[in-house]
Amino acid sequence: MKIINVVGTRPNFIKIAPIMEQMSMVSAIDPFLLHTGQHYDESMNQVFFDQLGIPKPDMYFGVGSGNNANQVSEIIKCIDPILDQERPDALLVVGDVNSTVACAWAASYRKIPVIHVEAGLRSFDRSMPEEVNRIITDQLSDLLFVTEKSGMDNLFREGIDSEKIHFVGNVMVDTIKKYRYLAERDSRVLETLKLKSKQYVVLTLHRPSNVDNISTLKSILEAVRKLSEELKIVFPLHPRTREKIKEFDLEYITKSFSTIGPLSYLDMVCLMSQAKLVLTDSGGIQEETTILGIPCVTMRENTERPITIEKGTNQLGGNNGEGIWSVARNILKSGGKKGSIPNLWDGKAANRIVKIISSWSAKG
Ligand code: UD1
Repeated sequence: MKIINVVGTRPNFIKIAPIMEQMSMVSAIDPFLLHTGQHYDESMNQVFFDQLGIPKPDMYFGVGSGNNANQVSEIIKCIDPILDQERPDALLVVGDVNSTVACAWAASYRKIPVIHVEAGLRSFDRSMPEEVNRIITDQLSDLLFVTEKSGMDNLFREGIDSEKIHFVGNVMVDTIKKYRYLAERDSRVLETLKLKSKQYVVLTLHRPSNVDNISTLKSILEAVRKLSEELKIVFPLHPRTREKIKEFDLEYITKSFSTIGPLSYLDMVCLMSQAKLVLTDSGGIQEETTILGIPCVTMRENTERPITIEKGTNQLGGNNGEGIWSVARNILKSGGKKGSIPNLWDGKAANRIVKIISSWSAKG
C-alpha cells in the first residue's frame, strides 16, 4: 500500500515523525514523504527533520510564502501531476494548515482516499484560515483520526459517517513523550539564555489575528511588558511576528524581553518544561504544555482544543492585553491549575493509526 504523507509547516513535522516511524515497521506500507515547502527556513524546517529523525522527503515543492489562496492553489498545481505519476493508494495529511487542505483537495479530485490525522477540531471561528482548512479537509476525508472527544462530537454533528472516525489520541504527544527526556538532558538553552528553572515566562505569538493588527499586537506586548517587571520573558520570534514588530515600530516594547529566533524542537521542549508560565497563540503548544504540566495562557478568544482547558493546564486569556495580564497574573500568584492527562494521550497514537490503516486497507 503506497501512502503519500504530506508535510509543509513546523507543526506538521512534529506530527508526521511518529507516523513515519510506525509506517517504516510495517512491510505492507510503502510511505512516500512529500514536503510542500510552506516553511523553508533552516530553523523552521531542516532542524526538525534532523532532530526528529524524519527521512528526507521523496518530493519537495518549495512553494514558500504567499496569501492563503495563492499558497493553496500553488500546492494543488504542484501535487496534481505527482498524484497522477505516483498513483498512491491513499494520501495522509496532518493538522490544519494550507498544505493540509490543498493536498486533501487535490487527492479527492483524483479519487484517492484521504486520511486526516487530527480531525474534528473546531474553534467555530471561520475568520481563522485553519478553521476553514479543518472543515474542508474533514469533509473530504475517508479515514479520520481524532485526538479528543470534542472532535468526535463535531464530526458526528457535521454528518460524517461514524465508521470513518477513530479516536486514537494525539501524535504530537507521541513526539513530546519520546523526546522530553533527551531535550531536558541535552539542550543547553537555559544556560545559553542565562535562565533559572521556573523563573521565566515563554511567549510565542504568530496568528495573523494577533500580529497583523497594530493595536492588538501592541496591547498584547504591553501586557507582557508589565509581566516582565516580575519575571524574565523569553520570546522565540516567528518570522511573521518579527516583520510586524519592525513594521509597526514596536521594538521599544520587546527590547525588555529576551527576544530570540525560532528554536529547535529540543530547545523549545526544554525551555517550556522549565518555565513558570507559557503565553501562546499556537495550537500545538496548548497540548504540549498540558503534557508537560506547565500553566499556559492561550492568547485567543477560543480554542479548537477544549480538552486542554477541561483537563489540562490551559486557560483562555483572550487577545486584549488587560485580559491576558489578569489571567497571567493570577496564575503567577496561585501557581495555576495542576491539570491531568487527557484520555489516550499516552504516546501510542501513531501505533494505533498505522494499525487501523493496515486493517482498513486489508478490507479494500
Ligand atoms: C502556518 C499555518 C499555521 C501554523 C503555523 C506554524 C496556515 C494557514 N497557517 O502559519 O496554522 O500554526 O504555520 O508556524 O497554513 N516565513 C519565513 N520562513 C519560513 C516560513 C514562513 O520567513 O520558513 C514567513 C514569511 O514571511 C511568511 C510568513 O512567515 O509569509 C508566514 O508563513 P506561512 O506559512 O504563510 O504561515 P504561518 O504564519 O507560519
